[in-house]
Amino acid sequence: MRPLPLERRVLDALPVTVYAVDLEGRITFVNRTGAQRGDEHTALGGAIWDAVGGPGMRLQLEQAMAALRQGGAAASWELPLSSSAADGAHLVQIAPLREGQTVTGYAVTTVDLAASHRAREEKQRLAAVADVSTGVAHELRNPLFGISSAAQLLRFRVKDDPVVEKNVGRILREVDRLNALVTGLLEYGRPDPLHRAPGDPDAVWDEVIESQRGRLESRALLLHRTRAEPPAHCAIDAGQLAQVLVNLLVNAADAAPPGTDLTLQSSVLPNGAWRCRLHNGGAEIPADVLPRVFDLFLTTKAGGTGIGLALCRRIVEQHDGTIALESAPEHGTTATLVLPGLPHRRAPDASGKAHATAPDAML
Ligand SMILES: Nc1ncnc2c1ncn2[C@@H]1O[C@H](COP(=O)(O)OP(=O)(O)OP(=O)(O)O)[C@@H](O)[C@H]1O
Ligand SMILES: [Mg+2]
Repeated sequence: MRPLPLERRVLDALPVTVYAVDLEGRITFVNRTGAQRGDEHTALGGAIWDAVGGPGMRLQLEQAMAALRQGGAAASWELPLSSSAADGAHLVQIAPLREGQTVTGYAVTTVDLAASHRAREEKQRLAAVADVSTGVAHELRNPLFGISSAAQLLRFRVKDDPVVEKNVGRILREVDRLNALVTGLLEYGRPDPLHRAPGDPDAVWDEVIESQRGRLESRALLLHRTRAEPPAHCAIDAGQLAQVLVNLLVNAADAAPPGTDLTLQSSVLPNGAWRCRLHNGGAEIPADVLPRVFDLFLTTKAGGTGIGLALCRRIVEQHDGTIALESAPEHGTTATLVLPGLPHRRAPDASGKAHATAPDAML
């Protein structure tokens, strides 16, 4: 089978319905997204107004088509998806298709605005949560310091009372936990700007593994590691990427049964992106928890804050990368992190012109 031309593959890949219509408004082409809607109105030969908005749209579209034939500007409408406004809306746009100076038909696109509205609302909600949390975290810092100092003074003054000792220990442990929460919230709510530089993310793993060696050894966990070969070349903020990797490794170490193996495999994908997969055994993440593991404050651990993965996702997205967790019974959990690769460096050739040492590969 001959491959489709690039233009057609691009049209099919767009998450937007694209139609071509003739001068009478009959559909002559629909891209794959539209065809997959499986809607009788999107069929070839049907009227475009039936496909995009029902009979109510006929007059408006016919007027727009007439105006476009006279050289008028492209038109767009925001239409409700159904009679209930809560179902969201879609954006319909129409533009002329020309052969030379003559208008021979129209291109019509429809975009579902509901998904982007939902994403924006979720972002605003999270920003509001982060704002309140960081405010509270900031105010908690000083009293926590006060509680911890007072408890230590008590421990110093009352040396031989086991009950006091036990309870002071408890106070200090809880203060430590709250301090971790406060630090996490401040990191989440007031992110440092990213300072990216070309680097190898596997080199960041080297340092993280070294810093967490004690934690792995204390649980008798053996880490099997495969590095990307040749090394990846990405634009990274090594400090912030290290925070992501520490969170992932700590989560894996917490979940893995003592004495088991962790595997860490990095590779460079054909498009130059760096991918690493960290796998641990142990109980799988329940199906109702898995879709929410990146939510702020979601934790299933007694001493957890639920900030770890939310922070990871924010940092990874700032790097234009992706992060995902898979978990299945008897297979444990795998975290997959992908960061885009930088284009290959260009080396000057004999003519002095720069040329790519390998095809430029970007995500
Ligand atoms: N590798 C893993 N294996 C099993 N469960 C995991 C793994 N990583 C994350 N989880 C689940 O996802 C939840 C959220 O993880 P996250 O790192 O955000 O918070 P946490 O580890 O509970 O607390 P902290 O803020 O201290 O990191 C965890 O409580 C755990 O239930
Ligand atoms: Mg964690």
